[in-house]
Amino acid sequence: MASSQARILADYRPSSFTINTTQLTFELDDHQTRVTNVMHIERVDKDAPYLTLDGEHLSLDAISINDKPLAEASFQKVDNGLQISISPELNQLTLTIVTTIDPVNNTALEGLYKSGGAFCTQCEAEGFRRITYYLDRPDVMSTFTTKVIANKTMYPYLLANGNKIDQGNIGADKHFVVWHDPFPKPCYLFALVAGDFDLVTDQYQTASGKHVTLEIFVDKGNASKAHHAMESLKHSMKWDENTFGLEYDLDIYMIVAVDFFNMGAMENKGLNIFNSKFVLADHESATDTDYFNIEAVIAHEYFHNWTGNRVTCRDWFQLSLKEGLTVFRDQQFSADMNSAAVTRIENVSHLRAMQFPEDESPMAHPIRPEKVVEMNNFYTMTVYEKGAEVIRMIHTLLGEEKFRLGMDLYFKRFDGMAVTCDDFVDAMADASGIDLTQFKYWYSQSGTPILRVNESFNNATGELTISVSQINEPSEQQSVKHHLHIPIRIELITDHNSSAHLLALKEETQTWRFDGFEKKPVVAFLSNFSAPVKVHFEQPDEELIAIMKQAEDDFNRWDAGQTLLTRYITRLVKDDSYSLPVDIVTTYKYLLDSTLDPALKAVALKLPSFDEVSVNLEQVDPQKVIAAIKTVEAFIAHNLENELLEIYLGFADIPYANKGKDIAQRSLKNTCLYYLSKLSNHQLLLSRQYNHSDNMTDTLASLNASAMHNTGVFDNLMSGFEAKWQDTPLVMDKWFSLQAVADREDIFHVLATMEQHELFTLNNPNRARALIGAFSHRNPKHFYQESGKGYQFLAKHIKTLNKINPQIASRLLTPLIQYKRFNEHHKNLMLNALKEIAAIDDLSRDLKEKLDAALN
Ligand code: TRP
Ligand code: ZN
Repeated sequence: MASSQARILADYRPSSFTINTTQLTFELDDHQTRVTNVMHIERVDKDAPYLTLDGEHLSLDAISINDKPLAEASFQKVDNGLQISISPELNQLTLTIVTTIDPVNNTALEGLYKSGGAFCTQCEAEGFRRITYYLDRPDVMSTFTTKVIANKTMYPYLLANGNKIDQGNIGADKHFVVWHDPFPKPCYLFALVAGDFDLVTDQYQTASGKHVTLEIFVDKGNASKAHHAMESLKHSMKWDENTFGLEYDLDIYMIVAVDFFNMGAMENKGLNIFNSKFVLADHESATDTDYFNIEAVIAHEYFHNWTGNRVTCRDWFQLSLKEGLTVFRDQQFSADMNSAAVTRIENVSHLRAMQFPEDESPMAHPIRPEKVVEMNNFYTMTVYEKGAEVIRMIHTLLGEEKFRLGMDLYFKRFDGMAVTCDDFVDAMADASGIDLTQFKYWYSQSGTPILRVNESFNNATGELTISVSQINEPSEQQSVKHHLHIPIRIELITDHNSSAHLLALKEETQTWRFDGFEKKPVVAFLSNFSAPVKVHFEQPDEELIAIMKQAEDDFNRWDAGQTLLTRYITRLVKDDSYSLPVDIVTTYKYLLDSTLDPALKAVALKLPSFDEVSVNLEQVDPQKVIAAIKTVEAFIAHNLENELLEIYLGFADIPYANKGKDIAQRSLKNTCLYYLSKLSNHQLLLSRQYNHSDNMTDTLASLNASAMHNTGVFDNLMSGFEAKWQDTPLVMDKWFSLQAVADREDIFHVLATMEQHELFTLNNPNRARALIGAFSHRNPKHFYQESGKGYQFLAKHIKTLNKINPQIASRLLTPLIQYKRFNEHHKNLMLNALKEIAAIDDLSRDLKEKLDAALN
């Protein structure tokens, strides 16, 4: 039984022993892989009598110190590990451990497992202990030499971290390869892959002239789909040189795409392993969004080589040290490669929809958590996305140049080390001369701060006064919260111009004055979303409309529209007879007619999602929120019919191209299609677009619109789609998701049919997410049905997944543990579902931690 003891940040102690070198030999076998682990170990704490190694799901075959087998009495198995007594005079030793593991039955996909026909590993956060006994903690850094032995025909490629130093045959049908990674690293960055692949290769020359071989391994037959990933990798390498002066450090960079993977991808040193979803693309099978995400994830993992690998985390509480910083870096990269404004807008709406609710849930935690039971539960929106916002605030407070000085100092001080978030912030402060003491509370406080804004204008003096208060609600874990240091960008808009200002809020309430105005300027608050906060600012509708039309900052323009729409939706939630003002229609007509980037027009037209709306409400009545959103949607469709149709037809038959301009036009066109398909007279557009489409973006848009607005057409198109794509797993994931998000009364019948589909399996995380994740996150109307059937459906699958793959089970639990924001009826239904899950035998550590928090 897995230990469910919480670990506490304040209890951190350095390890009593270090491991200087690690030599691993893998004799690969489906059920009985033998791992021989030879470690050179040094005692650092002279008084430590025991060496305690982590290990789970291992069978121990042999153990020796300095080649002498250990006597039974000198070691013992303890809870999830092995305790070895080391005689006092032995301060340096060679410890050899032989274990056997069963990769095929490893459905948790942590440690060594099989994905399709290939062996692969996933060690972060604590998966290495499922491979061998080890000091499985990020501050123990060792060099690794890895010998992989396997059948030659089944596994022609044998890969591990670093550079290949030897290879050869063993007998008639086996071969081996030896890899050496010269950079000391924690074991969570270890990787091994063995399989038969198509190999796509390229070359990169670094700024200092070093040649790097680039290799991408994909399933046989998929080589033509690796081109975009390879281009993205080269762009990332160049960008990191230009932006941060950071070059790649080994002679080879390998990426392997696998179909069975719990997360997006993993930055193992020199050998990234990717979910195939973030590698494979061609325009027939992947959407514009897929292309964007591939570029972002390739960049993210590449950037980890410096922020994560060269400088790593001292302990897992510091996870945001590498993740927040690396997400910030990949967001900046994406903004440079694509529309910066659209990239920023999408980052923010993702944060609001996913991280804000997390901050209000029983699992709310600061970006640097203080208490962890299962580390896998802390790869969260908070650590990643809010973590990135915290880095972005440092960037805003320091400015581009000083931020770069801070990064330089960080690498100068800490290259090759395992450090803390405080170390990072100190480097930023020391390099810039800017005091970040108060700023550090962003690392220790959970919750979304609220900014309350008041303004007044003195007509006689022409002076504008803005006062801002910060509210940091106490939470269960933190009854007293400090005031935060919050950078606030604003824009003051007059009839003739607009001026930008950066305010630093440090007190509870502060006031700023601006003068020289003839009449009251309009305040566009929190430009570019300069802090991860909620804003309470009662601006008149007309001023929001002025911001939509005139602000310099594209985020502000979009955000003003969202605020206005949220206002209308909220009024409708309270009173469904509320009649919507036509201002929004006139404003949209103006914007659609302007020269604005079509991609920005598209995001402006997109209504706030169910989650974005409800995160601002209390006691959410989900069906009312959904009905209100649909009312606004229908209002826009009716009142903008001609404009939407004209735009749609203008872009309808442009042949596919993979350019920014074309992507933007497709995005706007497909937003128009979505609205138009709400109207009975435009139903023909759905199958027309499907039949004429020459790319997956348009195909999927027509299917999605029919899933929501015409299930007759939908069912018909979907059977053709299935016949065409049944052999392409990533496209079938889209097919399952479409089934799950459809708006139809017989949705539970459809879901039941899908569960029985021959291609459906809970063992593949992408497939499980495609059906169950899509239904619970992207079909609010039916997930939040009054009957509670949605919650029961989710609970049933979580119970099954508890045994198969606890990490995925735990991630899927998210909507249920957010029950507190709903009304009594739904709260009770969700609680019942949670209790039902909590009652099963053998509850995983992952689920138990969340259920304990939710049901306490
Ligand atoms: N470090 C990985 C990333 O951010 C995250 C990751 C990949 C991960 N696979 C995982 C975390 C499995 C926990 C478990 O790119
Ligand atoms: Zn990462």
